[in-house]
Amino acid sequence: MSDQPLTKVVVPAAGLGTRFLPATKTIPKEMLPIVDKPTLQYIVEEAVAAGVKDLILINGRGKSAIDDHFDVAFELETTLAERKKTADVELLKKISQMVNLCSVRQKQPLGLGHAVLCAKSLVGNDPFGVMLGDDMIDSAVPGILQLWRAYLKHQQGVIALMEVPPSQTHLYGIAAGEMLDDRTMKITKIVEKPKSNPPSNMAVIGRYVLPPKIFGILEQTERGVGGEIQLTDALATLQASDGLIGYRFEGIRHDAGDKVGYLIANIAFAMKRPELKAGLLDYLRTVVAAEGRAK
Ligand code: UTP
Repeated sequence: MSDQPLTKVVVPAAGLGTRFLPATKTIPKEMLPIVDKPTLQYIVEEAVAAGVKDLILINGRGKSAIDDHFDVAFELETTLAERKKTADVELLKKISQMVNLCSVRQKQPLGLGHAVLCAKSLVGNDPFGVMLGDDMIDSAVPGILQLWRAYLKHQQGVIALMEVPPSQTHLYGIAAGEMLDDRTMKITKIVEKPKSNPPSNMAVIGRYVLPPKIFGILEQTERGVGGEIQLTDALATLQASDGLIGYRFEGIRHDAGDKVGYLIANIAFAMKRPELKAGLLDYLRTVVAAEGRAK
């Protein structure tokens, strides 16, 4: 039981990405590069590192570049092979062989809860992971695997939690409850983007492991904050009926769906690349020095 693998994850990527307009007029937000790799590829790599074989992508209108990215690029691979660009060919092949990707259309972006519900018939009757297409976790043990292990231990839905400054609680789903150990919370309350009186400063981050029962709950969930069908509202119902675990994951989270978060992610991942680090650091030092002089 304890080494049972997580087999399926759902990756919602059908949102409009309005915070990144005009770039997202034609480019899906999830395809914007972090250094030289689309955000979504980092997320798929996390799933693969967690042992996931089947990935269900929730896709939307005008976002077919996502499917193309994980497909075989026959013409490009042939041209590169003719030019003896073997390393590039291998790089592209690896992407198309990474995972079994199956795409479902969310015909209208009615919210994250609705996006997850679109995967109902493909997920079937097993527990499954949800990984948001713009939320990155950089960690030694893949973020979704940390949650899966907590799921196996507690046999309840598990959601990723991260402490945020009190000034930011209105931007997140917020959970509160009793800490069972340093990382694990038995959730007693969860609310979406509280305008006032947040129950804690533990924010819900874009990784979940959920029982299939969530689909029936989502079908009954009315539109909530922003007129959208909110996953958080369905999680509150699940918590009340079956219990829900929050897991304070180990690792660094980057919100690539937010402009500052996106820029930080680019710097953080560029700093891991020896060929980029020195040049980037030189530039950052001049920026910091110039800012210091201007003060
Ligand atoms: P976000 O709320 O960050 O995405 O959803 P968004 O709506 O595209 O962003 P903005 O605010 O307009 O810039 C988190 C993830 O859930 C997906 C998004 O694609 C993103 O990866 N999502 C959101 C859906 O798949 N469907 C939806 O209806 C909403």
